[in-house]
Amino acid sequence: MGKILAINGSPRAGGNTYQMLFAVLSECERAGHETELFHAGGRTVSGCLGCGYCRRNPGKCSRADWVDGELYQKMAAADAIVIGSPTYFSDLTAETKAILDRTGPMAGGDGRRFSRKIGAAVSAVRRAGGIHTLDSINHFFQINDMVMPGSSYWNMSLALFEGDFERDEEGGRTMTRLGENIAWLVERLR
Ligand SMILES: Cc1cc2nc3c(=O)[nH]c(=O)nc-3n(C[C@H](O)[C@H](O)[C@H](O)COP(=O)(O)O)c2cc1C
Repeated sequence: MGKILAINGSPRAGGNTYQMLFAVLSECERAGHETELFHAGGRTVSGCLGCGYCRRNPGKCSRADWVDGELYQKMAAADAIVIGSPTYFSDLTAETKAILDRTGPMAGGDGRRFSRKIGAAVSAVRRAGGIHTLDSINHFFQINDMVMPGSSYWNMSLALFEGDFERDEEGGRTMTRLGENIAWLVERLR
């Protein structure tokens, strides 16, 4: 069975993005896969220095913090990586962006480590900008040679306050189908 890692880029640990990722992972677990939800939002994180250290030292980063020491190892070991971010000013959160900017070059310098892993993005959004957030994260999957499953709608929930996702029936169905598709694809790619 496969390993599915979800990364929550929202500082609200139990917020809508968390609930969306939980719904996706529940379907993967139902199909027998191992899952983990990593909470990244709100943690202190710095962006990429552009120093090239990761090209000379595969799988390492000169920052030497939790992104390379802990999170990158989990991403490298996963069959599927689900990245969730709330929409902030029509885009992803700063923490999520820093993770992409750091781990992308690391994987590139580490034998294209994310190649043919599965990648999926989800976003909680009050009203506008959710598609842009998904696009930003999807760019990461595309340039890292990853495979992206779809769902019954774009992977969003219209949600403002914590818990709103539970009232978004279509958002719930979208997450369930995304989880089913990730589980289905993991089985076929292994
Ligand atoms: C700094 C900030 C910026 C936001 N920008 C947008 C936005 O551009 N569009 C929007 O529809 N909602 C915006 N929101 C609302 C959040 O996307 C919404 O509350 C979402 O459910 C938060 O997800 P979470 O519970 O996982 O943190 C913003 C919220 C914050 C705190």
